[in-house]
Amino acid sequence: MSDIVAADAIILVGGQGTRLRPLTLSAPKPMLPTAGVPFLQHLLARIAEAGIKRVILGTAYKAEVFSDYFGDGSEFGLEIVYVQETEPMGTGGGIRNVLSKIQSDNVMIFNGDVLSGADLKAIYQTHIDNDADVTLHLVRVSDPRAFGCVPTDMDGRVTAFLEKTEDPPTDQINAGCYVFKKKVVEAIPSGRPVSVEREVFPGLLRDGSRVYGHVDMAYWKDMGTPDDFVQGSSDLVRGIAPSPVLNGHRGDSLVHPGAGVAPGAWLLGGTVVGRGAEVAAGARLDGAILFDGAKVEAGARIERSIIGAGAIVGPRALIRDAVIGDGAHVGARCEFLRGARIWPGVVIPDNGVRFSTDV
Ligand code: GDD
Ligand code: MG
Repeated sequence: MSDIVAADAIILVGGQGTRLRPLTLSAPKPMLPTAGVPFLQHLLARIAEAGIKRVILGTAYKAEVFSDYFGDGSEFGLEIVYVQETEPMGTGGGIRNVLSKIQSDNVMIFNGDVLSGADLKAIYQTHIDNDADVTLHLVRVSDPRAFGCVPTDMDGRVTAFLEKTEDPPTDQINAGCYVFKKKVVEAIPSGRPVSVEREVFPGLLRDGSRVYGHVDMAYWKDMGTPDDFVQGSSDLVRGIAPSPVLNGHRGDSLVHPGAGVAPGAWLLGGTVVGRGAEVAAGARLDGAILFDGAKVEAGARIERSIIGAGAIVGPRALIRDAVIGDGAHVGARCEFLRGARIWPGVVIPDNGVRFSTDV
C-alpha cells in the first residue's frame, strides 16, 4: 500500500540542544514548553492528523523525559515506540538504530525541533509518484548558511547536498523531514555515528539513487536557537504557525490556567505565561516566554526572551533577547540584553548593572 497511513514515522530527538542552553540542561530541546505543551506534542499532533499511526522516537540525550510524558502514545492517538542510543549516533546513526522497529516499506523521518505547516500527505505522495529512494522536504529561507543547502533540477531531482556551507548556491534548504525507502535505512552503516546530512545524502547522490525534493511555501521554522524558539512560540500563540494542539487559538498571549496576571500588566506579541507563573502590575511582556512558576515583578520589561521555570525577574528589570535559566533571580533594575544568558540558580543582586554576556 502506498498510502501515508501505512507508513511509520521516525522522529530524531537525541540532540543535546546546546544552542538553547541553559534551558536544555534540564529538558531535551523537543520537550521545552512551547505554547502550553512540550514542543514535540505539536509535531506528534501533525503526524497523527496526517493519518500516521506509529511513531518511533530515536532518543539519546535525556531519553526518559520523553517516555515519562508520552508513554505508549495512546493518549495522543498514536502508538509510540522508543529506541535509545547508548551514545549519540548522529542523525544517520539515529535512523539506522531504529531499523528493527520499522514495520513499513517507506518511513517518514522528522528532525524533532522543526515547527512547520507542511502538508505531510503531499510530501509522501511526491515520494510515491517519483518512485524515489529518498524524498526531502525543502523550503526557501533568506539565509541558507545555517542549514543543508539542496539544489534540485527541473524534475525536482536533488543534484547536491551541502550541509552548512558558507557559500550556498541556492536558497533552497533541507527542512528536516524526509521519506526513506526502508532499504535505504538498511544500507546506513551500523554501530558507529553517521550524519545523514554529511554522509548518507552525499553517498546516495554519488551512487545515482533516486533522491527528490518536495518544495512548498508552508510555515517553517527550526526552533534550535533562542531567537527562533521565541519567534516560533510567538507565531503559535498568534496563530501564524499552525498546530492542531491549539484548536485555532489566536491572540496576543496565552496564559495558563492557574497563572496569575495582575490587572495593569501588559501581555503582547504572543507572550506565554506558564502554569503557576505570576506577572505583577505594570510589567510589560512582549514576545516573552515564562516557563512554569516564573515570577515577574512590578514594572519589569521582558522582550523576546525566555524566563526559565521558577526564575524571578525583579522590579523594573529589563530583559531583552536573553535567556534566564531555571530558578535564577534577577535583581531590581538589572538589564540583560542581546543574547545574554543567566545560568540556573544564579542570583544577580539589585543594582541596575547592564549585562550582555553569559553569567
Ligand atoms: N537520535 C539522535 N541522535 N538524534 C539526534 C542526534 C543523535 O546523535 N543528533 C541530533 N539529533 C536530532 C536533534 O535532536 C534534532 O531533532 C535533529 O536531529 C537535527 O539536529 P540539529 O542539531 O537540530 O540540526 P540542525 O538544526 O543544525 O540541522 C539540521 O536541521 C536543519 C533543518 O532544521 C540538518 O538536518 C540541516 O540539514 C537542516 O537544514
Ligand atoms: Mg535543528
